[in-house]
Amino acid sequence: MAGSRPRVWVSQPLFDDIVGQLAAHCDVDAVAEVTEHDPAAIAAALREADGALVTLNERIGAQELAGAPRLRAIANVGVGYNNLDIPALDAAGIVATNTPEVLSETTADLGFALLMAAARRITESERWLREGRWKQWSFSTMLGADIHGSTLGILGMGRIGQGIARRGHHGFGMKVLYHNRSRLPETVERRVGARYVDFDTLLAQADHLVLVLPYSPASHHLIDAAALAKMKPTATLVNVARGGLVDEPALADVLAHGRLAAAGLDVYEGEPAVRPELLALRNVVLTPHIGSASLATRRAMVQLAVDNLLAALGVGPRAGHPAN
Ligand code: DGY
Repeated sequence: MAGSRPRVWVSQPLFDDIVGQLAAHCDVDAVAEVTEHDPAAIAAALREADGALVTLNERIGAQELAGAPRLRAIANVGVGYNNLDIPALDAAGIVATNTPEVLSETTADLGFALLMAAARRITESERWLREGRWKQWSFSTMLGADIHGSTLGILGMGRIGQGIARRGHHGFGMKVLYHNRSRLPETVERRVGARYVDFDTLLAQADHLVLVLPYSPASHHLIDAAALAKMKPTATLVNVARGGLVDEPALADVLAHGRLAAAGLDVYEGEPAVRPELLALRNVVLTPHIGSASLATRRAMVQLAVDNLLAALGVGPRAGHPAN
């Protein structure tokens, strides 16, 4: 019926064939090019919208919602939703959804890839070779740390953490320790081959520590100078969660002074800006937030977000994944 179709804003170009499904039920205002939207632009885009499909680039809180009386649903294309101010959305009666599950294995793959690249100095070796510095095979070139048989520490034991644990335990014979808000049922611990320990034990015993916990004010800079000082100087730190979990200057300092062997980072506190201290280090592998970036997974995320949005607006066939 003309006039009764919800109006939705799609904040970035995603997959046209999937986003196109919205048009069967909604009037769609889709941004055609990758765009950095400032708060005023987001507020303007939401003004007439009943729903929105957004990415982690769009920060939405009370200010952006103030002039959006019709807005009922925001579908975030991502599992992390720290870009959304959930209390502000709740107060405005707006449903928020995210895309869990579909990206867990792909993100676990990237976590493991960063761990291996950092511990075995793969990107550093490649840069060195391309610079023409390989003159002769030698016993002491690019000595790194073993993955197999070492102790893997996992901070945050949701689906991505469990995927990393399985890879470490079943694939590489690692001893896997984890710390999480709550302990997993023993059946799950046995299945993924992981043992629960307290935070300090995790820091002290891990040869490789992977961060996969959600970011919130409570986990802000959880890995600070004090936490880093508790880690082995031979250890590797990997972050595929959110940059704000790590005090980056403190991390750069321990990496620069041999108090931590290596790091693999996919996320940054001020992304897309990366601190010059980190860029200058040879013993850190840096990727541009590509944890879920396989074609199949990114398509699955967009499909789930579209389904969630339609369901939340009450015009689609499937159930949603409310984040609030
Ligand atoms: C997420 O889903 O939270 C990822 O970081 C985006 O790829």
